[in-house]
Amino acid sequence: MGYRLTRRGLFSAGAGVAAVGLAGCTTTTSATAAAAEATGAFPAEASGPALFGPEAGLALLSRNENPYGPAPSALKMISKAAEKGAYYTNQEAIVTLNKLIADRHGVSPEQIVITTGSGEALSALALIYGPKGPIVAPRLFWDTTALYAAKLGMAEIIRVPLTEDMDMDLAAIDAAITPETGMVQLCNPNNPTGIAMPGSVIRAAVSKMAAKTTVVVDEAYIELVDDEASMTCVPLIKEGKDVIVTRTFSKIYGMAGIRVGYTISSAETAEKIRYTQMSWTPCTSIAAAIGCYDDTAFLDYSKSKIVEAREMITTTLDALDLKYLKSQTNFVYFQSGMPANDLAKAMAAEKISIRGQYMDYVPWSRVSTGKIQDVERFCKALPRLVNA
Ligand SMILES: Cc1ncc(COP(=O)(O)O)c(C=O)c1O
Repeated sequence: MGYRLTRRGLFSAGAGVAAVGLAGCTTTTSATAAAAEATGAFPAEASGPALFGPEAGLALLSRNENPYGPAPSALKMISKAAEKGAYYTNQEAIVTLNKLIADRHGVSPEQIVITTGSGEALSALALIYGPKGPIVAPRLFWDTTALYAAKLGMAEIIRVPLTEDMDMDLAAIDAAITPETGMVQLCNPNNPTGIAMPGSVIRAAVSKMAAKTTVVVDEAYIELVDDEASMTCVPLIKEGKDVIVTRTFSKIYGMAGIRVGYTISSAETAEKIRYTQMSWTPCTSIAAAIGCYDDTAFLDYSKSKIVEAREMITTTLDALDLKYLKSQTNFVYFQSGMPANDLAKAMAAEKISIRGQYMDYVPWSRVSTGKIQDVERFCKALPRLVNA
């Protein structure tokens, strides 16, 4: 791939502009900023605890981030928007991003709500629908936001066991819906399993469920699947079904720290979500999203690196004859033969960070794709650790 990331060039260009703007200012770097940089705020330049990004020497493969982002097209916009950071984000910026997203999905801009990461959207949805009745979900899913509402006493989660193959059991989830159900929450592809349900299967099931209750489909990783168009549940929204899809710029766009997500729903539901939002997405984040939303060169590059890293992981697991689930995401859920927490600890001793145990799924470990050299370290360490 000949796509070149020029983050350093962009930031140094931005710094030059800032220096000109601060010409009349006697101190251009505060003591706090200087101390932060010296202690490793930017780990490529220093060792020690990092304020931003992984500390030097750490292979960070535990949080499903995409280290190939942000795209240069996003960084350029962040740098320009930061210069206007004295001002609240103009409504025109939100409208611009709404329109870009709406056009791609073939819906109207009123059906899109921009949020500060899809986590904010999912939290808002849990707060809207949780008080109506239980959130019905697969036993294993990205449950952070449902738990947020549950901890506030505003939702109860009904977890439906997975199938033997660790798929979401869509028939059982459907059967668990009652007139009291607040909403169903599905995650496709699911986290931490990485499994993507085929479009025909998920759409038929969601369609049936949505006749009885609101169905939220978290599609955080859907741009990474083999055939996004056939798998997304967005067409059901266009058919007028009671379905809400959430998306994020944190994964394929590599902007987890920048915080932009969005919902697609009916215009009426979108209005409820807007009322429930708690944050105003920063102007730099909106600018970044506008900058890279249609950057297909970057998106193709990003996906190719993720697929390359995922294949390195599965090749290693195959060579060791270890069981894993077929992933269409930037992580793989596998069994090493060791309890997940023991493997995570042994990897941590080698400065490789992978996820520890989920719930009572003791044998299952999750490793994210990351920089190729970091995935290489994981692939080299695994045979040694499992055979130790
Ligand atoms: C399935 C899923 N949904 C949503 C999120 C939240 O992502 P963000 O708030 O960064 O958009 C995550 C984060 O890892 C996730 O795994």
